[in-house]
Amino acid sequence: MSATAAAPKAEPLVLGIESSCDETGVGIVRGTRLLANEVASSMEEHVRFGGVIPEIAARAHLEAFTPTLRRALDTAGVSLDEVDAIAVTSGPGLAGALMVGLSAAKGLAMAADKPLYGINHLVAHVAVGLLDTAEGQVQSLPPNTGALLVSGGHTEILRVGSLTDDVQLLGSTIDDAAGEAYDKTARLLGLGYPGGPAIDAAAADGDPKAFRFPRGLTMPKFEGSAENPGKHRHNWSFSGLKTAVARAVEQFEKAGQPVPVADIAASFQEAVVDVLTSKAVRACREHGITTLLLGGGVAANRRLRQLLGDRCASAGIQLIIPPVKLCTDNGAMVAALGAQLVAAGASPSSLGIPADSSLPVERVSV
Ligand code: KG4
Ligand code: ZN
Repeated sequence: MSATAAAPKAEPLVLGIESSCDETGVGIVRGTRLLANEVASSMEEHVRFGGVIPEIAARAHLEAFTPTLRRALDTAGVSLDEVDAIAVTSGPGLAGALMVGLSAAKGLAMAADKPLYGINHLVAHVAVGLLDTAEGQVQSLPPNTGALLVSGGHTEILRVGSLTDDVQLLGSTIDDAAGEAYDKTARLLGLGYPGGPAIDAAAADGDPKAFRFPRGLTMPKFEGSAENPGKHRHNWSFSGLKTAVARAVEQFEKAGQPVPVADIAASFQEAVVDVLTSKAVRACREHGITTLLLGGGVAANRRLRQLLGDRCASAGIQLIIPPVKLCTDNGAMVAALGAQLVAAGASPSSLGIPADSSLPVERVSV
């Protein structure tokens, strides 16, 4: 255990630190109120490699941490002495990148004698929906809540009994994550990195019906029925879609014709968003989920926000969506989950918290 335990209180002041990939995030919340969210990104440094280079990301976190922390404390108008606890991402993510945030958090916790909470990045993406900035905000988690988590490395549908100790995986991708599919497809289309925002923008000028790309794992043999569910009823697969896009691009290139980038981007996006939302809504129906939290970088996608909103409304599911800037990696989401843990009276972590690259979603804190 770290030096002191945070006394459970309804609206704890928590500082959150995120460093699992290429964003150095420091956020400060008081309960569910967002006070500061400062993010420094090393994305520009990875662009020429077409993906995140772990060593570059780790070094960038080291350089960005102190100024980002200062800005967050200034914006929130609080001092480190005043915070009730420090929360930090312990996984999943890039080991070297995680270690920078963890070391910083441990140093601060020791120096300021604050309890430290090592938390799960994936659950933090979901917990950020409880902050007062979310569309459809709720003060506390209603019964029968679920979450659709769509990030660069994960695509999961969850039942969330409690954000602090009861998260259950209902389904996930069996190959690429949704964000990964966006990033790989953007590369195929020459749209650069990161692919999500680039495809989101390109798709705005395209026809989503121009190409009928596959919706993975939607055949009856995979899905079964509500009474007799198939193995992949609530799972996704995006690798066939990526291959279909590659074939389409090849055909135009072989014929010496210009690749219709906007139409392919829009049709690809429609396929991803259609299968994500239809399977998520059906999983909610079949598991009695009536409130759905959307989280993760792909939750910034305009078409996903729109179609999931429409489909949840038709199914009578209350949808909670964080603002776009809190969908991609940030420290506020870590602080939001930390505040839930402190409020619930959870025990702090030890100062020996490891970086766990493959921390499963069911382990909310370490
Ligand atoms: O959650 P996140 O910031 O990092 C991980 O934990 O992975 O998610 C990053 C992913 C990337 O794959 C990025 O391309 C995708 O989120 N993304 C988007 C959009 N903005 C970011 N995907 C689709 N549309 C967007 N607007
Ligand atoms: Zn993330």
